[in-house]
Amino acid sequence: MRICIRGGRVVDPSQGLDGPAEIWIKGGQIEAICRAGAPVGGCQRDAQIIEAKDFLIVPGLVDMHVHLRDPGYEYKETILTGAEAAVAGGVTSVACMPNTDPPMDHGAVVEYVLRKAKEAALAKVYPIGAISRGLKGEALSEIGELKASGVVAISDDGRPVTNALVMRRAMEYAKGFGLPVISHCEEPTLSARGSMNEGEVSLELGLRGIPSVAEEAMVARDILLAEWTGCHVHIAHVSTAGSVRLIRDAKRRGVKVTAEVTPHHLVLTHDAVRSWDTDTKVNPPLRSREDVEALQEALRDGTIDVIATDHAPHARVDKEVEYELAAFGISGLETLVGLTLMLVERGVLDLSQWVTKVSLNPARILGIKGGTLTPGSPADLTIIDTNTSWKVDPANFRSKGKNTPFKGWILKGRVVYTLVDGRVVYKAGI
Ligand code: DOR
Ligand code: ZN
Repeated sequence: MRICIRGGRVVDPSQGLDGPAEIWIKGGQIEAICRAGAPVGGCQRDAQIIEAKDFLIVPGLVDMHVHLRDPGYEYKETILTGAEAAVAGGVTSVACMPNTDPPMDHGAVVEYVLRKAKEAALAKVYPIGAISRGLKGEALSEIGELKASGVVAISDDGRPVTNALVMRRAMEYAKGFGLPVISHCEEPTLSARGSMNEGEVSLELGLRGIPSVAEEAMVARDILLAEWTGCHVHIAHVSTAGSVRLIRDAKRRGVKVTAEVTPHHLVLTHDAVRSWDTDTKVNPPLRSREDVEALQEALRDGTIDVIATDHAPHARVDKEVEYELAAFGISGLETLVGLTLMLVERGVLDLSQWVTKVSLNPARILGIKGGTLTPGSPADLTIIDTNTSWKVDPANFRSKGKNTPFKGWILKGRVVYTLVDGRVVYKAGI
């Protein structure tokens, strides 16, 4: 049976669409989009109708930086709970990082993740393979085998690849296999044992700081290696004004570099750490007001291509300890829409740019389907009530990770439906 979604405002920058339209779905794919007033408009009989009056309809969100923790850390998250959190957050596709146990450094683990994702049958899951065996930064993993088993990129995210020759070789192989290298940029001799941004707040709180240059030194190195090898490098979780300058300059020179920023780095500064809430502890750390402003400007001018959550669920035992001992990470899937629509409300981005950053660009960077509602593409879409506010209560998260510094925040913009391949995989309780 067909599905007809009617009454909503459809924003799809891939086809320059922003306005009232009806969406027709058949066989899991977008069959047609009928703009208001077009002769084919008017939902017919024999269709399941989804009323979307006053709602926003966008291509399903693609979150290219997610930690699903499975296998190995199922007490933090499983592929099922992570996929449930994704669709509750309006995310129809996730790319998951390889820092599992065992890590995704060989085909069998990738196949396991894909099998579990298929069983969950919620969000689409695209594994990211490890750059190095055991994520040790020494020997390369079998990149060809990883590619054959279905990875869409390689990364040692969570850890930097400190050996420049290993990174060079990784880029050379990745280029040959047509995979982007996603770089966690951190120079560990500079960031060593820090737990927050180095600056006036770390000084005041007496916490060891992680300086901006710890990130920027590696961004510079990886841009140079990308230029040298011709490989596409994607810079994960950019957090500093200096990184933005380096990426902007590299793009001008034609280096194949793309970049992402997280919602938390766009809306919080290191001042949040004054609360001593360990849920503000994240790597890279929350930075200064000037950094946040530079990140917002970089999104606007296209220097930063993507908003990705770096969804990093942790258990209470990992966080209910002294600040210095707490695990790094924020559970981000279920606050992505609310936090980033705040940027639209504040005029940092318009809706079409927002869709580009949360759906179209990440799909393009990974070379996966999605990010568009053009006829023939999978009917992955997210329907959002942009007028309703809600209070963040981690107890209501589908994710096992309740670690959010946004608890108690009032966010405007609530996911009401998520469809994957034309199937309603999430519907908000009304
Ligand atoms: O905060 C973080 N958490 N940053 C990372 O790079 C890794 C991640 C994790 O795996 O928990
Ligand atoms: Zn990460």
